[in-house]
Amino acid sequence: MQGRSVTEEDYLKSIEELTIYSGYATLSEISKLLGKKRQSVYDEIGILVNRGLVVRTGRGKYALSDSGRSEANRFLRKHRVAEILLWKALKLPWETLDEESMGIEHGMTETIIARVCEMYGCVFCPHGNPVPEADGAVRDMDDMGFDEVKFFSRAKITRIIFETREVLSFLGENRLIPGSQVNIMEGRMYHGGSDEVVEIPDKIARAMRYHR
Ligand code: FE2
Ligand code: FE2
Repeated sequence: MQGRSVTEEDYLKSIEELTIYSGYATLSEISKLLGKKRQSVYDEIGILVNRGLVVRTGRGKYALSDSGRSEANRFLRKHRVAEILLWKALKLPWETLDEESMGIEHGMTETIIARVCEMYGCVFCPHGNPVPEADGAVRDMDDMGFDEVKFFSRAKITRIIFETREVLSFLGENRLIPGSQVNIMEGRMYHGGSDEVVEIPDKIARAMRYHR
């Protein structure tokens, strides 16, 4: 990501992902995700608020407006199809796809997208997130967050909603992908069989969604 120029689309994507993960986005979280100085994040957010794409939802808290969200989804379409291309065609490692796609996603035309979809299918990105339609519409996912699922004894991962390097590395190392099953005991999440059991930290468990 170093040296890469950060665009308005990157801001919208980060704010949307942070909002899905923790309910809102803060300047420091956005600056961490994008590797930009806090002051430039502050300036850019001001511009996006003026343009009606971002709204302030509380002190230091930001989220996308409806038009900002549909703009973000149009970009997430390119991003998620780029991930599919890098995974299926180039066989890049699963945990690097979010980051690697940042180099090519801006150039994903509808012609390229149509071809990737034809060859590999593009309902979901490799992390289980739905690929939006060209008009920004995105299918509803009927899955549960950690706070809902922690009362059950087992669950299946449906998607990774917060695709950071830290989250994806942990999941990649432990071979946890959409479809993998996890066990829950007294509100804590575990993975593995009889020989080795790995506890999944709360922070990582909250970065995923589940089905029973
Ligand atoms: Fe991604
Ligand atoms: Fe993804």
